[in-house]
Amino acid sequence: MSLFIGIDSGTQSVKAVVYDAETKRVIADGGSPHHLISGLPSGHMEQDPQQWLDAMDQAIHEALSSVDRSAVRGIGVSGQQHGFVPLDKSDQIIRPAKLWCDTSTVEECEIITDTLGGEDSVISMLGNRMLPGFTAPKILWLKKHEPENFDRLSKVLLPHDYLNLYLTGEWFMEFGDASGTALMDVRTRVWSDEVIGAIDGRIRECLPGLSSSSEACGVVRKGISEKYGIPASVVVSAGGGDNMMGAIGTGNVSHGIATASFGTSGTIYAFNDEPVIDPKGEIAAFCDSTGGFLPLMCTMNVTTVSEGFRKLFEKDHHELASAIERAPIGAGGLVMLPYLEGERTPSIPSGSGLMIGLNGKTLQSDYMIRAAVEGVTMGMNFGLNRLRELGVTADEVRLTGGGSRNQAWRQIIADIFGTSVVCMREDEGAALGAALQAAWCVSRQSDPQLSISSIVEGAVELNESSRVEPEPSAVEFYQELQAFHNILSKSMEPLYEVHSRLKS
Ligand code: XUL
Repeated sequence: MSLFIGIDSGTQSVKAVVYDAETKRVIADGGSPHHLISGLPSGHMEQDPQQWLDAMDQAIHEALSSVDRSAVRGIGVSGQQHGFVPLDKSDQIIRPAKLWCDTSTVEECEIITDTLGGEDSVISMLGNRMLPGFTAPKILWLKKHEPENFDRLSKVLLPHDYLNLYLTGEWFMEFGDASGTALMDVRTRVWSDEVIGAIDGRIRECLPGLSSSSEACGVVRKGISEKYGIPASVVVSAGGGDNMMGAIGTGNVSHGIATASFGTSGTIYAFNDEPVIDPKGEIAAFCDSTGGFLPLMCTMNVTTVSEGFRKLFEKDHHELASAIERAPIGAGGLVMLPYLEGERTPSIPSGSGLMIGLNGKTLQSDYMIRAAVEGVTMGMNFGLNRLRELGVTADEVRLTGGGSRNQAWRQIIADIFGTSVVCMREDEGAALGAALQAAWCVSRQSDPQLSISSIVEGAVELNESSRVEPEPSAVEFYQELQAFHNILSKSMEPLYEVHSRLKS
């Protein structure tokens, strides 16, 4: 028996799965929550990385409690993308990590973009825009706001790299997650000297060399093999960002498949063997974690919005689905821009939620819930349409994340996307993907040519009973609503600027 542990360290919790490579099934799992630091100013989203380690230990202990630990061969780690984990020269955490959803670095993005000659010039250097979600502006923020902490900075890590360091003692970065730093040219897969220079030349030494995602990060430290009761020879694969690992775990490792994740963030992405650069910078030009590329669109507002409304109206998940079904399509003209904590795509970091169409009929919970869910889904569809414009196509969209478990919402997704949508048999796509990457990494030691597709085959399956087809009349209606949503969002951009000055 050969077992592989897949870890997914997300924004809210760490999940662990144990994957059996012989039966190609997940045979055990575990999970443990961690928390955002509360009481920070608006837009600041931070976590204590020590909490991730504690949660990972607990999730692994739970997952291993019912399996033969001596059969564990590898571990793969998936983590929330873009977070900045600053370490000093003794590998101690200098301050909490600023996360992917932190929007406090608008000014730093402007400074870097201006220094580099404007937005088009940044896209030509990196393949990506300089956005607050990414890691680079967070480093400049540290330099500007906490110079004494910046002076102590010795290593820059992403969240999954930090977990890898804990497991192996190795300071390692692979192409997939590194492509989300906005410090790397995604086409050449090298650190960008220009961007580094625009922040501070000193951070060159704080970045490790870049490695291929098929390499191993290392072997578990002695303390780890003893703590988990696993063999000393257990390999830790390169790992990657949660979307890169989600791509593996949903079988999105070859052309023609798109994945949409309805989680804390909303992402839509599709494997490509060439980089896909969006001249408008709306689609992020990421690398994947199998040697290819992963054009991706990210919105910051998905389940935070649906959960916010669910709690506001004191409903359970079942009642939320009924509310969606009771309200008519288009929620009687109630339309929502769901940018609760600002938005990445479209880039409106100072955005907030907006509803238009409130009247005597729509001012009630069912309509507001439906408008919120439709608004979130149209935000995702904006990305799907942009991917299509850039030539990335898919006949069906594979769904993951909490939002996709709701049947009523799933029908809205199919109707707004205008395509067949289907969930996976194994819902923890990122954790499964991490386990599969570990299995690939270990198998390549004896068979260096082994493809990731052969590992994924049979391990990743669709849950056909969840499949939903679009309704032609609803598709037509939503195309019109989408056009209105896009115009509303675009028109609000300058007003949000003014509004953010009123807030402060
Ligand atoms: C993608 C992104 C989010 C995080 C969530 O670019 O920022 O999906 O990875 O963990």
